Parts: sequence; structure tokens; C-alpha cells
Amino acid sequence: MSAQNTARRITAPEITARKGGDPIVCLTAYDAPTASIVDDHCDLILVGDSLGMVVHGMPSTVGVTLDMMILHGQAVMRGSQKALVVVDLPFGSYEDSPITAFKNASRVMMETGCQAVKIESGSYAAETISYLVERGIPVMSHVGLRPQSMHVLGGFRARGRTDAIYQEIIENAQAAAEAGSFAVVVEGVSEDLANEVTKAVTIPTIGIGASAQCDGQILVTPDMLGMFERVPKFVKKFGDQRAQTEAAVKAYAKGVKARTFPGEANLYRFK
Ligand code: KIV
Repeated sequence: MSAQNTARRITAPEITARKGGDPIVCLTAYDAPTASIVDDHCDLILVGDSLGMVVHGMPSTVGVTLDMMILHGQAVMRGSQKALVVVDLPFGSYEDSPITAFKNASRVMMETGCQAVKIESGSYAAETISYLVERGIPVMSHVGLRPQSMHVLGGFRARGRTDAIYQEIIENAQAAAEAGSFAVVVEGVSEDLANEVTKAVTIPTIGIGASAQCDGQILVTPDMLGMFERVPKFVKKFGDQRAQTEAAVKAYAKGVKARTFPGEANLYRFK
């Protein structure tokens, strides 16, 4: 038997080994063309369940299904060659037991070819993380603001304002690391708390809205590209995709109405 695909992807242990070293560059992607661009510049691509909102127009990530994650995971795998691809396990697919989590995580890995999954890690998660890791599934955890719990948390708000929650977030990250996670996403916390979590765990912290005190950073790609007028406060827009798309669509519509498009050069030649 010989391996056909020669490109070598970054592995989960290689991400872990970057703790305290060169910052880890991560972005989300949900389709093959975006993945092919992101792949050249990122160590890790997350097929985040944020796709529910930024691709499918849902109000939150709660309605995202396993089949949706698999479909987008397959597209991202086709579009990328180098980065570690992590697929989110959606709400309802892993919380009730390690066995359910393994059944769904192994399906995601087998049907997409991705190398790892991510789960939002409350205090219940440690047992599931070690169950998955022992059975060959690398796990990235997610603490702080956990969007799948928005109905319990009361919305998408920064976390860790009280001493109890501050401490709980550190403990969740430690439990996730001790259970074998290869990295942990830290979302929506203060600079001080991000620093404490980063010091408290032996695995890399990947921040989103969590300051520069983390070992790496991630953003939701359509947010940073400027696809939406309203984005979370911490997001810096590195592009102007919405305005550019609007201008292109407007120019196209104008051309069609004026019967100037397609021009001669674009016509098929039949002779
Ligand atoms: O779903 C997602 O895109 C995420 C990132 C915000 C980390 O979990």
C-alpha cells in the first residue's frame, strides 16, 4: 500500500509543541475556495459551528447539525493541504455521554478526513475528552464564552466578571488540558483572565476576543473580512468584503440592464 497524497499537514502534537513559542495562526473556513487561501497562511483551520450564523443565517449555533458540519468539513478538506483541520462538534452531539461523543466525532473524522474535533468544555467535559483522545481523536477544547450555551449564559457576553466564574474558567481549561486536549480556545475573557489561563495550562491557548495574552489567535473569517456590518466589538476588519461584493453586484446589474453585458469578448464563439 502506498500513500497517494504527498502534502503533509500540521499535526495536533505539533500545535501542542508550540506552547509559549511562535504565535499559532488560526482562522475559520467553511468552503473549499476560502480554505485554499487560508491554508497558505494559517497553522490551523477551524470548521466552526459559527457557520450556522455566518453561512446559514441562523440566530445562533444551537441549530447546527452534524450533517452540516460534515458537509462543510469535506469542502474545507478538499480546499486545504497543509493546515490542521479541526471540525466543531455541534450542540447536542457530544454532551450526554462519551460514547455518543465518540460515535459522532469518529463519524466526522471518517467522513471528512479532518484530523481533530473541537468541543465546548464545561465541567462535564473532561471524561469525554479523555475518552475521545484515548480512542484516537484529538480534541481542541473551548472555554470562556461558549456560544452553544448562550441560552444559559444569557447571550453572547464576555465571561469571567465574577470571582466564581473567573475561577471556573481557569478550572475548565485546566481540566480540559489534563484530560488530553491538544489546545484550548479561550473566548470572550479579559486580558488578565486570558493571561491566567495561559499560565495555568500546559497546552496552547487560542484566543478570540481574549487579548494578545494567548499562544495563538482565531477569528471568524467572514467577520475579519468585513462581510458583515455588525460584528463583535473585538473584531478588527482586515477587509471590506461586503462593500466590494455590493459594488461588483451593482456593476453587474447595471451592465445587464444596459444590455452591455456580456460584452463581445465574453460571447461563446461557435465557429
Ligand atoms: O464556531 C466557531 O467559529 C468558533 C470560533 C469562534 C472559535 O468556535
